[in-house]
Amino acid sequence: MEDLRAKDARVLWHPATHFGDLERLPPLPVARAKGSFLYDVEGRPILDAISSWWTALHGHCHPRIVAAMTEQVGTLDHVMFAGFTHEPAIGLAEQLLDMAPPGYGKVFFSDSGSSAVEIAMKLSFQARLQGGERGRGRFAALKNSYHGETLGALALSANDDYRATFSPLLVDVTFLPSPSVPAHRHEDLSSDAGADSPEADEAVASLRAHGHELTALIIEPIVQCAGKMRMPGAGFIRRITQEAQALGVHVIADEIAVAFGRTGRLFASEWVGVTPDLMCLSKGLSGGMLPLACTLVREGLEDVFRGHPSRSFMHSHTFTANPVACAAGLASLALLREERIPAMEGQVAALGAAADDVARACAAIGAHRQAGMIVAFDLDRDAAHPGPVDGRISLSVREAALKRGVLLRPLHDTVYWMPPLNISPSELSLLSEVTVDAVNEVMG
Ligand SMILES: Cc1ncc(COP(=O)(O)O)c(C=O)c1O
Repeated sequence: MEDLRAKDARVLWHPATHFGDLERLPPLPVARAKGSFLYDVEGRPILDAISSWWTALHGHCHPRIVAAMTEQVGTLDHVMFAGFTHEPAIGLAEQLLDMAPPGYGKVFFSDSGSSAVEIAMKLSFQARLQGGERGRGRFAALKNSYHGETLGALALSANDDYRATFSPLLVDVTFLPSPSVPAHRHEDLSSDAGADSPEADEAVASLRAHGHELTALIIEPIVQCAGKMRMPGAGFIRRITQEAQALGVHVIADEIAVAFGRTGRLFASEWVGVTPDLMCLSKGLSGGMLPLACTLVREGLEDVFRGHPSRSFMHSHTFTANPVACAAGLASLALLREERIPAMEGQVAALGAAADDVARACAAIGAHRQAGMIVAFDLDRDAAHPGPVDGRISLSVREAALKRGVLLRPLHDTVYWMPPLNISPSELSLLSEVTVDAVNEVMG
């Protein structure tokens, strides 16, 4: 273990990691994973309560996905996707168009969430140029948003921790307010929550003022995940989506974190009932097993790209539609249809009940909320007695949970769960118990 850690420290640079924290909580060498658990090099199990950054939908190394990938990698490992095509990509695209909200006509594959967002931005922008709407060159996004960290996607992300340094490099974006429902219940997804909030009125007014110059509005439907799992209410998302589309502004739904059952439905946009013009998918698209992303494009939007070659969409990534990743995606969709979706209601109820119990057992939890298989607990800093000495609630809770065999990675003072959709009752009990103990240890 120590040998690997020393070597890692010599040669590697980890994402979202402060050099200063490496001594206190160095990266944990992991040897293997199975189901809801990671196993460190000494064989110690760690319950992956956040699905490794929201990827592992069916747990790790699901045998059906592994079998599909194994078969595919021995048949066709990779082929460039310009000038070639293959069954896994065709099949996955057909199924996505079939299962997504109605109205999409094309699937543009890529390999990361940020790329899917860049593609949506560029498609929208170029469609305006070629459709004779040159005045529509700007984007709108919501405050507290996160859409990735390449320069286009970063420009749409409101969080200053990520964007401040690079702000001179970013395109100018109009940020709209969005409400927050801190005690959101899963049942609220079926209501008009957020629609009549002051933030919704302000967002609509801003859209009306800027609508003529906007090419697209990007939203994270239902949950702003990196933004401390904020839930603005389905009614708010519905209202601004409808308003934007009525003004002729494209709506880009960033479902990178929330699609494939995370909110209790296959796509979070289903709760909204309006089809966005472009939809970005990644993370769970391959079942969380390989890097894969795509952008769904509303039927007909591609028409302005036909004709002279100069009208083509000149965007490519080397590993576009990798066959092995697509085969994993097909196996994952089959599992979702056959196993996850039928069991969803029970799983969502179990997660909700466990979250209520945890909130009752921790005086420091101010509010908790749920949307499908996502749960978040806001810790009240003022309730900490005495709280972590250095004020680092997130790092301290992470440390306290890891010591007890659970991977939690709070977003500042918000602890959240986004476990594999098939987390078992005993795993959920372990998760609840460790969450309570870790929060109470840190917050006093
Ligand atoms: C909503 C959302 N959009 C975009 C991204 C960026 O995806 P990637 O890290 O694959 O570039 C993320 C990643 O967490 C995300 O949660």
